Amino acid sequence: MRRKTVLRAALAATAAIPVALAGGPALARTLTGSGTAPQLTPPCDDGDHPTPEQIEGPYFKPNSPQRTSLLEPGMPGTPLTVSGYVFGRACLPVAGVLLDFWQADANGAYDNTGFRLRGHQFTDSRGSFALTTIVPGLYPGRTRHLHVKLQAPGRPVLTTQLYFPGEPRNNTDTIFDARLLMTVRDAGGGREAAFDFVLDVPQDPGPGPGPGPSPSPGGTWAVGTAYRAGDRVTYAGRAYVCLQAHTAQPGWEPPAVPALWRAA
Ligand SMILES: [Fe+2]
Repeated sequence: MRRKTVLRAALAATAAIPVALAGGPALARTLTGSGTAPQLTPPCDDGDHPTPEQIEGPYFKPNSPQRTSLLEPGMPGTPLTVSGYVFGRACLPVAGVLLDFWQADANGAYDNTGFRLRGHQFTDSRGSFALTTIVPGLYPGRTRHLHVKLQAPGRPVLTTQLYFPGEPRNNTDTIFDARLLMTVRDAGGGREAAFDFVLDVPQDPGPGPGPGPSPSPGGTWAVGTAYRAGDRVTYAGRAYVCLQAHTAQPGWEPPAVPALWRAA
């Protein structure tokens, strides 16, 4: 399901028609419930405008635990879920994308000795992610925000931040970027936020399986080869089809990277 198709359906629908009925993924920005047309930020329309980068800040730590919930017993704060999709340049969802979140606690403090409120996860086969956490507290000089690093298989890391609408400090924080505003609503004593990322991942939006218009490298999978979506190779006696354009590297053997290759 192409995202812009859904977006167009959403924009064409009247406020009385739930956008989710249009089929396909329910987009983050369709969840505003405001009755107004959702803003197309960041736009995703055939290969442009990836999610903006933001500074990492001083509190990132590598090697966070893999987990989708950052909640711990007794942790103070307002419950928060953040969910959405990760798309590539052709507005197709990207599976296997690493998302590494870190944030301040309810008092605006980061855990720089342990891994409290830090964790990483991967998008599923539909390109979706979901984080369970608390609303981060404020600390001097910044508006309310979450930090996240994203990396699609074989692609560069995108470091960015996510923001909350309606925060007074959004107007004075010089780093704040409205393109990174989540949609947020109250739900059951907590908050539900949504955001869709667009990564600079080449994608072939073409008609799908079948011989493409360009010749395929074919043959046996080999490090250093530039593969395109639809290319077919063999590896360890099995046939695979390339899902995303990339240059093969050690460790990206077809069975090990389902985001790049599927068994033919
Ligand atoms: Fe921060």
